[in-house]
Amino acid sequence: MIAKLYNFPLLGDARGSLIVMDKHSGVPFTAKRVYYLFGTAEGESRGFHAHKKLHQIAVCVSGRCRMVLDDGAVREDVWLDSPALGVELPPMLWHEMYDFSNDCVLLVLASDYYDESDYIRDYKEFREYCSK
Ligand code: TYD
Repeated sequence: MIAKLYNFPLLGDARGSLIVMDKHSGVPFTAKRVYYLFGTAEGESRGFHAHKKLHQIAVCVSGRCRMVLDDGAVREDVWLDSPALGVELPPMLWHEMYDFSNDCVLLVLASDYYDESDYIRDYKEFREYCSK
């Protein structure tokens, strides 16, 4: 795998489950921002970018989606299909999301605030950055 996967410990009891994402469960940064994608229309895809400096961890807390990851040399797929499964999106990892289930809620922890200048949205430009 070109991206680190996290199997977050499942806590909980007879009332139900609970998952914590923090440094004790392996998150390597302090989240300054949390956002989530939901209500994604059938057949829609999202992402299609990399970040220059931002670190993120994405988890489908409900439903599932498929993420394509590309480090400029290797391209691979991961199904995010468990609220306990996180994928790390470090800087310079191109990502695309597909096949969202109707109930998909994709939660993302981000190491910094939103900054459009940190995005690389052009795949050709991404490949050029990678070869520098
Ligand atoms: P974008 O990151 O392009 O979405 P995706 O990668 O999932 O396809 O974001 C969509 C829009 O939302 C874009 O106009 C930027 C805006 N946005 C913010 O204003 N703040 C944020 O924290 C995020 C993630 C997006």
